[in-house]
Amino acid sequence: MKAKREHSSSTQPKSQKIRSSNPSQNLATRHRNNLQKEIRWLLEEKYRGKRTTETEKDIARFKKGEHIDYVIGFVNFLGCKIDLSQRPFIPRPETEFWVEKAIQEITRRKRSARASLIRCLDIFAGSGCIGIGILKRIPYASVDFAEKEKKFLKQIEISAKRNNIERKRYRLIQSDIFSSVKGKYDYILANPPYVAEARKKKMQKSVLENEPLQAVFGGKDGLAYIKRFLREAKNYLKKDGKIYMEFDAPQKREIEKLLKKCGYQNFEISKDQYGKWRYVKIYGRVIELGR
Ligand SMILES: C[S@@+](CC[C@H](N)C(=O)[O-])C[C@H]1O[C@@H](n2cnc3c(N)ncnc32)[C@H](O)[C@@H]1O
Repeated sequence: MKAKREHSSSTQPKSQKIRSSNPSQNLATRHRNNLQKEIRWLLEEKYRGKRTTETEKDIARFKKGEHIDYVIGFVNFLGCKIDLSQRPFIPRPETEFWVEKAIQEITRRKRSARASLIRCLDIFAGSGCIGIGILKRIPYASVDFAEKEKKFLKQIEISAKRNNIERKRYRLIQSDIFSSVKGKYDYILANPPYVAEARKKKMQKSVLENEPLQAVFGGKDGLAYIKRFLREAKNYLKKDGKIYMEFDAPQKREIEKLLKKCGYQNFEISKDQYGKWRYVKIYGRVIELGR
């Protein structure tokens, strides 16, 4: 089996990445080794190891600073090939981790005789990796993708085709958070822009120079979109519906406060595969509180 590549564009601060490398290597050596590793990955993923003039052009793009995943043109996410031709936010392994958990739960859930379709909303959809993963793995799920940027809705359609997802199983909604979303869902899955502006200096250069920044930053404390999302999400949830939402580890305390303030009674906050607080699952009764 092909080795899984360590993701190079995490929104985690650089210091954590450096700590995990071999401390006896100096920075220049480490940088050179990483470049070589990424080039090997490019050759393997896109060209099955063959070097042609096209390969050389791609290597040059990469050396000029273009993100390796954009050069390759797709990433693997839950067994799907997520297309990156429109340059959406690059799906992260942290997201793949909790979406896998959500899929396990949806699969366990007993389908009622009346509602045989599980209705999901992938909001802040970007590349659509969350919803496409669900559609691929759960044949009785339908997904509405909500995203502000039109070009990313096109991106989702490209990926859905690439993964042989039937067109009737999903809808594309151009929406400012919930502004154009209608109806109620069994599952709402959200990975909002949540990085605090203050963390900008600690972020990897490749993220800042390559990825759409409106997908990354959530205002001064990173909570601007999360607040708007949590205030409204309960109105789009079926009676036994559940919400999964990703956030940044240092926001845990604020997230707990916000959830209570918005009337969410039951929730579980969990860590990702790197031991960082990363996502919340919200379920059960929601109480209506005055605004
Ligand atoms: C962190 S990315 C998540 C992308 C994808 N769901 C994932 O997990 O990789 C956030 C996405 O939210 C979109 N976005 C930003 N502001 C928005 C808004 N007001 N309403 C809807 N989507 C928005 C961005 O364009 C971006 O695609």
